Amino acid sequence: MPPIITIALSKGRIYDDTLPLLAQAGLAPALDPERSRKLIVPTNREDVRVVIVRATDVPTYVQFGGADLGVAGKDVLDEHGGDGLYQPVDLDIARCRMVVAARADFDYAQAVAERRRLRAATKFERIAREHFARKGLHVDMIKLYGSMELAPLTGLADVIVDLVDTGNTLKANNLVAVEEISQVSARLIVNPAALRLKRETLRPLIDQLALAAQRAREARLAAAALPAGGDRG
Ligand code: ATP
Ligand code: PRP
Repeated sequence: MPPIITIALSKGRIYDDTLPLLAQAGLAPALDPERSRKLIVPTNREDVRVVIVRATDVPTYVQFGGADLGVAGKDVLDEHGGDGLYQPVDLDIARCRMVVAARADFDYAQAVAERRRLRAATKFERIAREHFARKGLHVDMIKLYGSMELAPLTGLADVIVDLVDTGNTLKANNLVAVEEISQVSARLIVNPAALRLKRETLRPLIDQLALAAQRAREARLAAAALPAGGDRG
């Protein structure tokens, strides 16, 4: 009997975007975690199972061997620090940007030029701290767990550090992105000890997921190069 492989995924974006990649690697979870309270999800392969955890807990599960593999956003990995994790593949899914945002009437460039002390609200404390430190700015950090966009509107903070995709959330709240910190996508993460002990099963799975991600990236880039509304055929 081959060793059991455990993959840690979070519900929502990460799960939805990882599912097609798993399918290309021949893996299909046996139930939909959105419709079940089960946290351990069997797959069509007897030796592979998925565990459902919070997005921010995925690196911890993989680091300490609660899972052999996982999928986590670069934001989550940067906050975690990445210790004890092998990151072989950028899966190019759940793509977004980490930005500094402020009210449209807040002159961020001026505040930076004057080296003004700023208040920044975020759930990404480490990323924000390192970003402002690189700029040589003194920032009072206010830790939030969600709805960061509210902070500048209520006077809680001058700026926020948050993820942006379409920009709809910022726009709906009269905020603007004033600085990009990084491009974010989800990565495959692997427990290095598991890779040594279960190499025969894990390595092919990692390679299949890498190939699936590469194909999906190529298809996305090809679609983006097509003229709007049709193909060239
Ligand atoms: P938690 O439950 O731990 O608070 P979360 O609610 O942030 O996590 P998701 O919203 O599912 O979890 O986000 C998972 C990952 O998807 C994030 O870590 C980030 O990498 C990416 N992501 C977040 N927001 C967006 C977005 N608007 N568009 C695209 N990707 C995003
Ligand atoms: C994320 C992020 C922003 C929003 C940006 O929130 O924190 O609020 O997406 O996306 P947009 O630019 O496409 O509007 P999410 O939807 O994950 O809600 P959460 O903060 O409750 O997780």
